[in-house]
Amino acid sequence: MRILVTGVTGQVGSALATKLAAFGTVVPADRSVLDLTRPQDIASRLDEIAADVIVNPAAYTAVDRAEDERDLAFLVNAEAPRALAQWSARRGVPLLHFSTDYVYSGRGSTPWKESDETGPLSVYGASKLAGEAAIREVAGPHLIARTSWVYAPTGSNFLRTIVRLAREREELRIVADQIGAPTSTAIIADALAAFCASPGGLASVIERTDGLVHVAAAGSTSWHGFATSIVEGLRARGVPLKVERVTAIGTADFPTKAQRPINSRLDLSKLSQVLGRSTPDWSVGLTTVLDDLAASGV
Ligand SMILES: NC(=O)c1ccc[n+]([C@@H]2O[C@H](COP(=O)([O-])OP(=O)(O)OC[C@H]3O[C@@H](n4cnc5c(N)ncnc54)[C@H](OP(=O)(O)O)[C@@H]3O)[C@@H](O)[C@H]2O)c1
Repeated sequence: MRILVTGVTGQVGSALATKLAAFGTVVPADRSVLDLTRPQDIASRLDEIAADVIVNPAAYTAVDRAEDERDLAFLVNAEAPRALAQWSARRGVPLLHFSTDYVYSGRGSTPWKESDETGPLSVYGASKLAGEAAIREVAGPHLIARTSWVYAPTGSNFLRTIVRLAREREELRIVADQIGAPTSTAIIADALAAFCASPGGLASVIERTDGLVHVAAAGSTSWHGFATSIVEGLRARGVPLKVERVTAIGTADFPTKAQRPINSRLDLSKLSQVLGRSTPDWSVGLTTVLDDLAASGV
């Protein structure tokens, strides 16, 4: 089985390229292989690659910049997924696509269910939602996995930023009123591997989820709670830090170009039903990543 994985220079794509090798030949597609700003070229590229499964974690992910680059965000996050979906529908090849908690409005405090109304607050969120809609409209075999607050030991993410700042500054001021589940790429890769390994494989997961499922760590915290746990975890592992205080601030104290959801909690009941188990708590994922970081000298 040939498994095309896009976005292999990114966090999720690199974890999936490694993990999914257990299920076939991974064809890693960075932007030199498949440029998502050129949806018109996607079908011919896919003809050449001839994959049996398409996994698409590649995306325009610069949330604040997207407010000024709307066309580019929609091209990569909506038009390119539409082209992937059209090819996949013609060939009957499953498309596994990634989306985000940013498709929700963030109102209220209960976890969002897949069936809840969406209401993106940002251009990025709207572009990802448009990608979902395009894939659904094409109506080939697809599974859309909405995830949240992704991090890994490498790459550009909140955890890496906190590790750096904790060594440079005495005080970190971190937003405490946005709540979600920090999700390590290992948790995402494990869930996807479990989908592939399940009886009936991806086709059965697509059927059981109706093509849409949340994939995230269990539990929830704020960015402030996450940062505090990172700092405490590094200290417990003997990593020298300059930071003395992690101060809780409000969203209003940290203005950003794009508005973020306050409540990013994702309901994981559907995922648990499919997996037959819960995903690990976000703190468990963090422990593993901090162990890896400490072992590599950070
Ligand atoms: N990060 C989060 O907190 C988060 C939260 C919820 C959902 N998600 C979703 O999860 C998925 C994976 O996110 P991630 O954190 O792994 O993203 P990431 O680390 O920012 O990686 C994005 C990947 O997309 C590639 N890409 C961007 N533009 C491209 C183009 N025009 N053509 C081909 N490839 C292109 C990038 O390639 P280059 O290296 O060449 O730029 C990179 O490999 C995305 O769908 C994202 O929307 C992420």
